[in-house]
Amino acid sequence: MKISRREFVGRGAALGAVAAVGLRGVAQTAAGVSIRAAGAGRGILAGCAVSVRALRGDAAYKKLLEEQVGIVVAESEFKFGPLRPSPTTYFFEDADFLAAFAEANGMKLRGHNFVWHRQLPKWFDGYVTKENAKQVLVEHIEKVGGRYAGKIHSWDVVNEAIQVSDGLPGGFRDSPWQKVLDGSGTVPEYIAVAFRTARRVDPKAMLVYNDYGIEGEDEGSAKKRAAVMGLLREMQRQKIPLDALGVQSHISAVGKDGRVPVYGAGLMAMIAEVRKMGLKVLVTEMDVNDRYVAAEIGARDAAVAQMYGSYLGTVLQDSAVIAVLTWGITDKYTWLNGEDSRTDGEKERPLPFDAAMQPTAAFAAEVRALQGAPVRG
Ligand code: G3I
Repeated sequence: MKISRREFVGRGAALGAVAAVGLRGVAQTAAGVSIRAAGAGRGILAGCAVSVRALRGDAAYKKLLEEQVGIVVAESEFKFGPLRPSPTTYFFEDADFLAAFAEANGMKLRGHNFVWHRQLPKWFDGYVTKENAKQVLVEHIEKVGGRYAGKIHSWDVVNEAIQVSDGLPGGFRDSPWQKVLDGSGTVPEYIAVAFRTARRVDPKAMLVYNDYGIEGEDEGSAKKRAAVMGLLREMQRQKIPLDALGVQSHISAVGKDGRVPVYGAGLMAMIAEVRKMGLKVLVTEMDVNDRYVAAEIGARDAAVAQMYGSYLGTVLQDSAVIAVLTWGITDKYTWLNGEDSRTDGEKERPLPFDAAMQPTAAFAAEVRALQGAPVRG
């Protein structure tokens, strides 16, 4: 591969940033600086989402996870669709594989998720009706939550239930679950049932409401934040069990308009409100896309790292934020390299390790942000 001079200089800058936190070949040595240790020093759980397929088949990926992370979550394997090949059968092999990996390595395990409008099995439509929906939902949570009870740090009980543009009262998403269960209340029935059942089957797991698009300073984010806060407040008022808000944090180094997006005041105000309600906050799915950074790798990495530093440096100031997970650890397996990726045909570099599993400037920035956070009590 030919590397231009600017690209080379850029790479040097990225590696310089890595060196700034005292790293040398961290990907090769478990004794080096790790995301896990950087977080642990501040009482923050730090880790990532895992592809179980890669964990089974890619030894270098497995080693990187073992060296780096203190908390894991499956990218797909705990979701309703992958777990439910048919209405009466369950497929637990992949989820069990990750649970065993986490246990063997002393890592915390997150559950993602019981309820989502996506990744539902093909049989859902047609089989799930107004008559049996509650039973299907309760049985699913009993079976899955029960299987991993006591082993789960936190469950994303409901994922992405707010979609203001759907036009429903309260900003709720017109999701398949909303359609088959009573959505007329200030908390849709499927959400109440899911959280109550989750608490009953796994009282030790922290119960999380998880959503995206609530990070920015734009009008859309502000409206979505307001709707999410409305849901959380109503849940508390109705004594529906809830412990934390998950802020997914799929963010951009540069927006479509070519500007560097601003994350800060609105999000921090929300986190403060959540803290005052006695709830915790988790950064659950962070990555920084470089889709609109039209430059060489070095400059792209610098822009991504800059965003990791400023975003985490901001949100970690609030001690309600107890965990940071990136959505993947290496660019080799990021979901962002799908169809609508960069127009120049290059792969995105949104994660702390590149496709060759070498630490990038984003890694250094994440480590620095974790190390610089106030110590959690
Ligand atoms: O496992 C099958 C495999 O057997 C099959 O051969 C292959 C063919 O397409 O598909 C595989 O399943 C894919 C699965 O990822 C595992 O790789 C699905 O098609 C694909 O749709 C699925 O995508 C996941 C997506 O959620 C589902 O909507 C992404 O990996 C995952 O990163 C993404 O994660 C979501 C979070 O759950 C919620 N927040 C947003 C985030 C990104 O979209």
